[in-house]
Amino acid sequence: MAEPVLQAQALARHYRVSRGLLRGHAVVKALNGVSFELLSSRTLAVVGESGCGKSTLARQLTLIEPPTTGALRIDGADAAGADGATLARLRRRVQMVFQNPYASLNPRKTVAALLEEPLVINTSLAAAERRDRIAAMLERVGLRPEHARRYPHMFSGGQRQRIAIARAMMLDPGIVVADEPVSALDVSIQAQVLNLFMDLQESAGTAYVFISHNLAVVEHVAHDVLVMYLGAVVESGPKAQVLGGPRHPYTQALLSAVPSIRRADRRRRIPILGELPSPLDPPGGCTFHTRCALVQSRCRVEPPALREVDGRQVACHRAEET
Ligand SMILES: Nc1ncnc2c1ncn2[C@@H]1O[C@H](COP(=O)(O)OP(=O)(O)O)[C@@H](O)[C@H]1O
Ligand code: SF4
Ligand SMILES: [Mg+2]
Repeated sequence: MAEPVLQAQALARHYRVSRGLLRGHAVVKALNGVSFELLSSRTLAVVGESGCGKSTLARQLTLIEPPTTGALRIDGADAAGADGATLARLRRRVQMVFQNPYASLNPRKTVAALLEEPLVINTSLAAAERRDRIAAMLERVGLRPEHARRYPHMFSGGQRQRIAIARAMMLDPGIVVADEPVSALDVSIQAQVLNLFMDLQESAGTAYVFISHNLAVVEHVAHDVLVMYLGAVVESGPKAQVLGGPRHPYTQALLSAVPSIRRADRRRRIPILGELPSPLDPPGGCTFHTRCALVQSRCRVEPPALREVDGRQVACHRAEET
C-alpha cells in the first residue's frame, strides 16, 4: 500500500472573536477535528455549505496557519515538529489555487514573471532553463508562448485560472489544495478548467484536495468525498459510496437538491430544515439535529461518532436505517 502524501489527524482550528464591548470573547470552532488520508494521483473533494470550515481547512493544509490542535503529515513528515529547512521543503510540496484568479495574481507582473518567481526563489536553475520550464508549463495548461509577455488583466477568467494553476504546478508540488477553483468562472468554461486539473493529475501524479460547494463539480473530479458540517466531518469515503448511496441525512439533502446527479431511487427531495446555526453556538448532541428530518431524542444529547457503515465513514445514529 502506497504511503499517503497528506495525512490530517483530528485537525482543529479555533478563533477567538469579540462579541462586542460588554459581552467579551467567544471561540469559533471553525474546524473541529477533521481527519483524512490522501494518496498521490487522487482527488479528495471537500464539500459543505458556506461557513462550514472549508477554507480554514485549506489554510491548515497549506501551512498558511498552524492548527489549534491535531496533526498534519506531508510525505510522512510531521509539519508541527519540522525545523525551518524541513518546513520550507514541505511548503513547496503543497501549493494552493484560490477561488479568485483576479485577486491571487499580482497584476503588475507578466505571466512569465509570475511563473518564474517560484523557480527563482526555490531552485538554482539558470535563466535559460527557467525559460524552458515556463514555455513547457504554458503549453501544458493550454496557453500560447506569446502569452508569457502579457499581464493578468489581459486574460479571461478561465485563462487567468490556467495561469494560477501553472504557477502552482511550477515546482511539481505533489499536492495541490484548490479552494473553489471554478466557482468564480462562467459555467461554460468550468468544465475546461476541471479537465485541465484532471489532465495535470494524470501526467504529474498530483494529489488534490478539491474544495467545492458544487456537487456537480465534485461528481466530475473526485475519487473520494468528505462532507463537512459546522467544522466537522459528517460523511467521508469513496465517491461511489458517498454520492452514489449517501448515509448521512445532510449528504442526502445536499444531493437531492442537485437534479443532474439525483439518482432514480432518490428523486424525492430531502429537506434541510431551518437556518444554519451560528458556529459560535453550535447545537449540542448531533450538530445537525436542528435541521434533520430524521431527528430523535437521542440525537439532541448524544453526539454521533464517526464510524464505518457500508464502505464509508458516517456520523449519524441512524446511518443503518437511512
Ligand atoms: N480568521 C478568522 N477569525 C474568526 N472567525 C473565522 C476566521 N476565519 C474563519 N472564521 C469563521 O470560521 C467559520 C468557517 O469559515 P470558512 O473556513 O471560511 O468556511 P467556508 O470556507 O466553508 O465558507 C465561519 O464561521 C467563519 O466566520
Ligand atoms: S444523528 Fe440524528 S439528528 Fe444527527 S443526522 Fe443522524 S438522525 Fe439526524
Ligand atoms: Mg471558503
